[in-house]
Amino acid sequence: MNKKVFIKTFGCQMNEYDSNRIYESVAKIGFEKTEILNETNCYILNTCHIRDKAKEKVYHEIGRVKKNFKFKKKPLVIIAGCVAQAENREMIKREPYIDIVIGPQSYHKLNDAILKNIRKKEREEETDFDTLLKFDYFDKIKNSDNKISSYLTIQEGCDKFCKFCVVPFTRGPEYSRSFYKIIDEAKQLIKNGTREITLLGQNVNAYNYKEEHKHFKLSDIIMELDNLPKIKRIRYTTSHPIDMSEDLIECYTKSKKLVPFVHLPIQSGSNKILKLMNRKHTVENYLSTYLKLKKINSKIEFSSDFIIAYPGETEKDFYCTMDLVKRIKFINSYSFIFSPRPGTAASSLKLIDQKIAKKRLKLIQEELFAHQKFKNKMTENKIVNVLVENKISDQSKFFGRTEYMTPVIFESEKSVEGEIVPVLIKKSNQNNLFGEIKLSKNIEAA
Ligand code: SAM
Ligand code: SF4
Ligand code: F3S
Repeated sequence: MNKKVFIKTFGCQMNEYDSNRIYESVAKIGFEKTEILNETNCYILNTCHIRDKAKEKVYHEIGRVKKNFKFKKKPLVIIAGCVAQAENREMIKREPYIDIVIGPQSYHKLNDAILKNIRKKEREEETDFDTLLKFDYFDKIKNSDNKISSYLTIQEGCDKFCKFCVVPFTRGPEYSRSFYKIIDEAKQLIKNGTREITLLGQNVNAYNYKEEHKHFKLSDIIMELDNLPKIKRIRYTTSHPIDMSEDLIECYTKSKKLVPFVHLPIQSGSNKILKLMNRKHTVENYLSTYLKLKKINSKIEFSSDFIIAYPGETEKDFYCTMDLVKRIKFINSYSFIFSPRPGTAASSLKLIDQKIAKKRLKLIQEELFAHQKFKNKMTENKIVNVLVENKISDQSKFFGRTEYMTPVIFESEKSVEGEIVPVLIKKSNQNNLFGEIKLSKNIEAA
């Protein structure tokens, strides 16, 4: 049998990283990656549970797959990711079309579950938190990602238990991978052609690994990567404000490759709401980190996550968030209305009138987007440094990103993939910059 696997991925960067690793793992039992749904005989849905109707979205997707294979042999159907972890056996019971349900810390057991299903038609659920065994297993499989910009998971899970969040339940307790294995994996990525590494973790700056009296933190990984000659940029996400330690802040002076861009979710600009959320930081803590970083380098920019209309948020609390947004001038951020998640402490709290919630979301987004547009406009007629990721379908144009993650589409006659090149920006909109490669020194750098 010609075995083909198709993975559809929802959710965060870590799910993207996981999907790539799953492709590499199932290749060991003969499954070849396909991007054509119709030719797959193993369909994997890698799910996200963070907001909204996550569960319904999964059943909706299964409905589409069912329709697609109505007159064909049914593929093996696997639900992976955070919904799989949260719903576990329920999914197998509710939907006979699903063959395997597997949580994020059990991916090392996926091949066995698949083989068992092929042999005995047994449906399986794997949702233990075996994080250590999982990483041991994947450490032995070469990461074959060869993109210019690649993800590398260094930490997984969360012990912070913000009251709104499912992550501690779906990814399990905080776990930090071996420092040495991370560096080995980074070296492998560089060999494959990667030039930018984004270190990933649900609490990436809580990374904490001890071995033989040595104690490694995120700052140690950054400085080790900094020494690898072919790496051009280093990023990390997502950070928690209370883990922005001095050694990490110092990296912004010591590292030549760490980008001057910090994604630091605050969620709300009101201390009352932060307390109700169990965020463990205040607006003042946040501002102090912001000021320290700005003092080191005024070019450091920030982005954040906001939860609007958290239960108990008054007009006054909301305007505290607005004030913070006006003060910090985040360059791009994520903002969503609070979504009650099953099993979390906030799930049973009384919701705010959804009309008011929508109005507040609109107001905050207007402010955030206006600044984003303004920032992009300010780069027009200036040069920005772009790490070029790929050629786009219109063959004379390239795609890359600024240090601040802003997508840039530009013209170049020379092939420049994998290089950091100066691009003269001619046009901009809220999300993108457009320009042409330029080597002249007479133009001011943005
Ligand atoms: N660990 C990160 C932190 O502490 O800031 C956040 C990780 S979480 C996967 C990404 C974002 O999803 C959060 O920053 C939060 O804004 C949003 N989020 C999480 N739970 C949510 C909920 N119940 N409703 C709305 N947004 C939510
Ligand atoms: Fe979720 Fe982040 Fe809070 Fe952990 S720290 S519970 S991942 S929002
Ligand atoms: Fe979603 Fe799980 Fe990531 S809930 S945001 S896929 S950690």
